[in-house]
Amino acid sequence: GTTLGASAAEKGRYFGTAVAASRLSDGNYTTILNREFNSVTPENEMKIDATEPQQGRFSYGAAEQIVNHARSRGMSVRGHTLAWHSQQPPWMESMSGSALRSAMLNHVTQVATHFRGQVVAWDVVNEAFEDGTSGARRNSNLQRTGNDWIEAAFRAARAADPGAKLCYNDYNTDNWTHAKTQAVYNMVRDFKSRGVPIDCVGFQSHFNNDSPYVSNYRTTLSSFAALGVDVQVTELDIQGAPAATYRSVVEDCLAVARCNGVTVWGIRDSDSWRASQTPLLFNSSGQKKAAYDAVLAAL
Ligand code: XIL
Repeated sequence: GTTLGASAAEKGRYFGTAVAASRLSDGNYTTILNREFNSVTPENEMKIDATEPQQGRFSYGAAEQIVNHARSRGMSVRGHTLAWHSQQPPWMESMSGSALRSAMLNHVTQVATHFRGQVVAWDVVNEAFEDGTSGARRNSNLQRTGNDWIEAAFRAARAADPGAKLCYNDYNTDNWTHAKTQAVYNMVRDFKSRGVPIDCVGFQSHFNNDSPYVSNYRTTLSSFAALGVDVQVTELDIQGAPAATYRSVVEDCLAVARCNGVTVWGIRDSDSWRASQTPLLFNSSGQKKAAYDAVLAAL
């Protein structure tokens, strides 16, 4: 194929990008989006603060803009994210205990129901584990509602949209030898053994000098896949965008039968949340970088 999406599709995969609703009026941006990608993830528009800014009052306009743009052009949508310690609206940040647990489950149910049938895979829970060597759960208001909050969120999501793949998504889970990776692995293994409805694991893959790509990434992907879940590269960006590293990530995904696809976290460097790292496949004028050629060649 001559585009990322078409080439990935030939291998039974997708190639996606994060999309910001505010950029859909930028013609340079949408030209690249519509030409190259066949999956989109709303960058912020499906987060809790965006979709339930006041408790019980849901707001879907920006998310729907992205969903409609994508689906009308045959692109699939990854939903991101239903339950997370970050980007909570103020009302939720100040909640705790059983009231928070109910509010979180209601949020999962409402949002997954609203987009039922339109989202191929949901990041049901995002970033629930601590960094470092402890392997512990991250301390958060959600975690303090009880250790079973993650499985409760997955069960609510399954009930609301039985057709969507339900993913756990995290960062710094790329290196197979790290405690955080092993902790997530153990949770997924436990969920599979007890019948908790989980279908996939997302690896954000924000690579930089502090948390670099390592060659055991492929082992990580294949080890999770062996538990009976799909794996997806969900938020890829790489400091400096070295072509060889981009190529390795794509090759690693293609080497694992259950790796469904790769999503980069933005289109042009100027669209990136880490723009100063110039971590993406297109420069700020929308021109293809060397990393783009490497990814296309690997697909
Ligand atoms: C980032 C967005 O890119 C920024 O626009 C926003 O200000 C903060 O969140 N992990 C995730 C994503 O799961 O939701 C984050 O996205 C990047 C890190």
